[in-house]
Amino acid sequence: MTDDLTDAAALEAADEKYVMRPWTHPKGEPVIVAKARGCTVTDVHGKEFLDLTAGYFVNNAGHCHPRIIEAAQKQLGEVLQVSGKHGTPAAIRLAKKLIDIGPKTLNKVFFSTGGSEANEFALKAARQFTKKTDIAYLENGYHGLTLGSLEVTASEKYRDSAGKPMGPENFAIPCAYCYRCKFGPHAECKVECLDGVEAQLDARPKTAAIIAEVIQAVGGLAPPQKWWDRLDAIRKKRGILLIADEVQTGLGRTGKMFAIDHYGLQPEIMTGGKGLSGGVGSLACTVASDEVAKAFFGGTTPTSGGNAVSAAAGLAMIETVVAEKLIDNAAKMGRYFTEAAWALKDPWIGDVRFTGLLGGIELVSNRDTRAVLGKNEMSKVKDTLHEMGMLITISGMHGNVLRLQPPLSITAGQIDQFISALRKTLETVRKSG
Ligand SMILES: Cc1ncc(COP(=O)(O)O)c(C=O)c1O
Repeated sequence: MTDDLTDAAALEAADEKYVMRPWTHPKGEPVIVAKARGCTVTDVHGKEFLDLTAGYFVNNAGHCHPRIIEAAQKQLGEVLQVSGKHGTPAAIRLAKKLIDIGPKTLNKVFFSTGGSEANEFALKAARQFTKKTDIAYLENGYHGLTLGSLEVTASEKYRDSAGKPMGPENFAIPCAYCYRCKFGPHAECKVECLDGVEAQLDARPKTAAIIAEVIQAVGGLAPPQKWWDRLDAIRKKRGILLIADEVQTGLGRTGKMFAIDHYGLQPEIMTGGKGLSGGVGSLACTVASDEVAKAFFGGTTPTSGGNAVSAAAGLAMIETVVAEKLIDNAAKMGRYFTEAAWALKDPWIGDVRFTGLLGGIELVSNRDTRAVLGKNEMSKVKDTLHEMGMLITISGMHGNVLRLQPPLSITAGQIDQFISALRKTLETVRKSG
């Protein structure tokens, strides 16, 4: 290993030695990215990947968009960071933009540094406003890995990582996993999965809020309109707040500015993160109605909340997404992806779910029984795609969904490249037995 860490092997060895990660490295990971542009990342060996993860669902306008770089560079010469007691023009401009593009119920923005933290503040605000303690979350929901956010994250694997017991105040209500409906395939959905929720909430009169990803990123689950209509009516009747977690779905990802816009939902609190910093990082927000904001107290703010460089870059990201019509492109490319994936007619493709470019392809070993494709095959699929230069992650309640969330600027030609790699990959892995 060379001390100056300039060559690829030295960097990889140093990563292994010095960087702590909460998982063991799967084959081919980590990819140490030396350069990134648009939908492509290049690793320290010079290998190019089509990034179907948008840098972990962050770079909605593409990696290193010149307009974002320019805004960040300009801000670097002005002011970087001030106390949360004060403000910067960049953070104020971003706050106004969020109010302008967000639902009309929301009027005030609280800046923090990451999605988990934004959700912590949302939970806190809901408890302070309602003076109630309990929070309902959706099965399969993901809201972050800090302790408070983890308590409303459904995954047992993640919850177990914090040690038991988790807070008894928080409880799960059903999500809408229609492909695997608990009531089996049936002609007309009557949203039977929510039948027990009224009783569940009535038994928990201290429920302050329901926190939900309106479209669940894990597995790409978009409930039907009537599902949200029913849950929204149930919670409104009981004065329960809705916290919409738009950390992953926000800022154009789903083919609308926010996932709530697909359903006409008007939450009392909304959270955002990921792309909000334009890729610079360390910026998230909790957006609230005037009433909720008035009841919100705590005395201080996170030290780096509202960092000026991240705010300037985030504002440029939103402006770019709008100016380049990337939200329309997300909607269009989501449809293109869906058609192209189904056109493969691959026996392992059980379901294709895209809402804009929040996409998932669910792999099964048997399309009739919908038996989940095994872990071993899933790993091989991921590794083979990886070798072919396709950077993807695996997701879903059963770990059998290819998660496809590229920058919103992806082109039909790039999707064709992925689909061609997917066709070869599925054939190769099937043959390998
Ligand atoms: C829906 C959702 N909420 C919250 C978070 C947590 O955000 P962060 O990792 O920035 O803390 C994530 C991150 O993946 C997310 O997808």
